Amino acid sequence: MADYDALDAEARRILHLNDRGGYTVPTDGLYPYQWNWDSAFAAFGFAQFDLDRAWVELETLMTGQWASGMVPHILFHQVDDRYFPGPDVWQGVGPIPSSGITQPAVAAIFARLIYEQAPEESRDRVMALWPKLRAWHRWFMDWRTDDAGAICVTHPWEAGRDNTPEWDAPLKRIDPQGVGEYTRRDTSHVDPAMRPTKFDYDRYIWLVNLGASVGWDDAKLKAINPFRVADPTMTFILLRAHRDLLALGEALGCDTAGIADEIAVLEAGARSLWNPELRCFDARDVVTGDWAGCVSSASFLCWGAGIDDAETAAHLDRVMAKVQYGVPSHDPESPRFEPKRYWRGPSWAIMNYLIGSGLAAMGKPQADMVRDHTRAAIEHHGFAEYFDPLTGDPAGGSTFTWTAAVWLGWASPNARG
Ligand code: SER
Repeated sequence: MADYDALDAEARRILHLNDRGGYTVPTDGLYPYQWNWDSAFAAFGFAQFDLDRAWVELETLMTGQWASGMVPHILFHQVDDRYFPGPDVWQGVGPIPSSGITQPAVAAIFARLIYEQAPEESRDRVMALWPKLRAWHRWFMDWRTDDAGAICVTHPWEAGRDNTPEWDAPLKRIDPQGVGEYTRRDTSHVDPAMRPTKFDYDRYIWLVNLGASVGWDDAKLKAINPFRVADPTMTFILLRAHRDLLALGEALGCDTAGIADEIAVLEAGARSLWNPELRCFDARDVVTGDWAGCVSSASFLCWGAGIDDAETAAHLDRVMAKVQYGVPSHDPESPRFEPKRYWRGPSWAIMNYLIGSGLAAMGKPQADMVRDHTRAAIEHHGFAEYFDPLTGDPAGGSTFTWTAAVWLGWASPNARG
């Protein structure tokens, strides 16, 4: 029997270890800045034992918000040359040095959760955050929807799932001319076999340079960016977060005009990601109209967005039966499955939380299975960035903030959720 109290203590220690005062890095070295969705998960973790620190995390994240409403995926509070590309490459145009793209909009999900945990103490804090979250979500609706209402990614890093096979075909269409020589830092921290390839990285950097070349002007970039993929991660998460933003706004007495209509748009967008051949939710290349043809862990975010689907549930059962430590980020029966390479197979505690809590909210029987797999991975293999779904081997960075946070808030037997 594992010592769960000791694991809880270790998770709290990791959050403190990665706390840089006002914000939390995902892990030292590999990711030495504030990342958007990592940070929202950190708030969830802190909320289990330090409510004030949880709100501070979200408040600091929103200090990076651009005039457009966009909240960047990285905030470079203090330059650190252990990471590439840094602020000099990104040339963000916000109030503090930042990247030029966003990340899945999980912040409102946790703002609601943390508020409901302690409404009286949290009221003023969340009141100040709500209009900023509203502006961010509005920016998504203005700049990231496709004609069907799905949310698109404009860079593989935007979905957080950097090298998932869904991006293979759209990336192949890019010729990374002029990207030149650069030195990756990630592969000096982590085994290159667990990271994206040079083929991918050349295109990541080319897309960063493209955005910087037009000063990250949304309209200009929309016209020239060849990478635009309607994505289940962004769509299901924004739909879930938008429902939470509405509920929170109603509880606080904020001006919620327009949100219900936007939810209807996002619901239509989410349903447009149903691939009738695959019989599952899938990513769709907006430029070519082609499906990615991938069952991924993002397909299973539908329940969190309030969308039930029996055939997607059958895929979940199928992939979970193939692994010891799910949920695999890519279908283990696909030829492109790689159990240790970042988003091409490994299991991620944060996706598991979003999938498992969504299943639980809809009363689906698979909810416990997803939590049990997560608990076992962390209990047997520690607070890794991600896990080999076949063996549970820890992969990527260690002492990882969001894995610790998910443990404290959900996977630990002592967790509230
Ligand atoms: N995940 C990316 C990296 O590995 C950036 O968001 O650097």
